[in-house]
Amino acid sequence: MASFAGAFAASHGPLLVREWDAVPADQKTRLEKAFRELGKRMKAAKPDVLVVVSPDHWSNFFLDNYPAVCIGVGEANEGPPEPWMKAFPHREFPGHPRFATHLVNEALKGGFEPSVSHRLKLDHGSCIPLWRMELEKMPALVPMLVNSIEPPMPSLARCLEWGKLLRKAIERFPGKLRVGILATGGLSHSIGEKTMGAIHEDFDRKTISLFSGAERSLVRYLDKELPKRGNGSEEVRNWLVAHGAARGKGFELVDYLPVPAVIVGCGFAAWRP
Ligand SMILES: [Fe+2]
Repeated sequence: MASFAGAFAASHGPLLVREWDAVPADQKTRLEKAFRELGKRMKAAKPDVLVVVSPDHWSNFFLDNYPAVCIGVGEANEGPPEPWMKAFPHREFPGHPRFATHLVNEALKGGFEPSVSHRLKLDHGSCIPLWRMELEKMPALVPMLVNSIEPPMPSLARCLEWGKLLRKAIERFPGKLRVGILATGGLSHSIGEKTMGAIHEDFDRKTISLFSGAERSLVRYLDKELPKRGNGSEEVRNWLVAHGAARGKGFELVDYLPVPAVIVGCGFAAWRP
């Protein structure tokens, strides 16, 4: 049986790379510290496999074919295709076909129908947190791309259920393996809309506080508020997958800060096993 090594969540946003020089020094320090702290905790959790739950920013899919959930089952996946991510040190990541295929089979048995890919590109959504966490050794990565950017998207309740399924799949995996989860995206931000640049600190803080309470209240609040809080806030779905996998227990906020220079309410969190 594999074991759940813990779940982690971090915001991403292209400007964390492209406009890094414009971030005020005190905020840079906090962001660096928060990413590094997550990296430290992940290192301590010793995952052999990391399921990276992220949106696909039209790097693999487009409007003609955008799956609700796609799981990468291949031997390897590719590094970020964005030209401004060229300094990212990995061009290819080993996958974990055995665990990924097991996850897909458990999903199908449990009434979930993910699509699969044997080779995915992991764009900035996955790679900015992996980069900034400064992991010395990259675990095998199993990408789980959840549509959290292009309507229609999976429901919030379904994302929680996906997390619970993921946990069950970990516990049913025949073989010794430590499996961690990295959820990326959110909190409030708005890209390419009239409200571009807006950060809703009140929403971010309320969302963070609701992660410590009943699932129902969290889902009810997000269902009502997400449409008003910028399209990027929809990526909090990936946090819900992590939350479901952690069975709602042990959410710990590493840091939260609104960063206008990168137009993202940046949140960092960890769930203990
Ligand atoms: Fe994103």
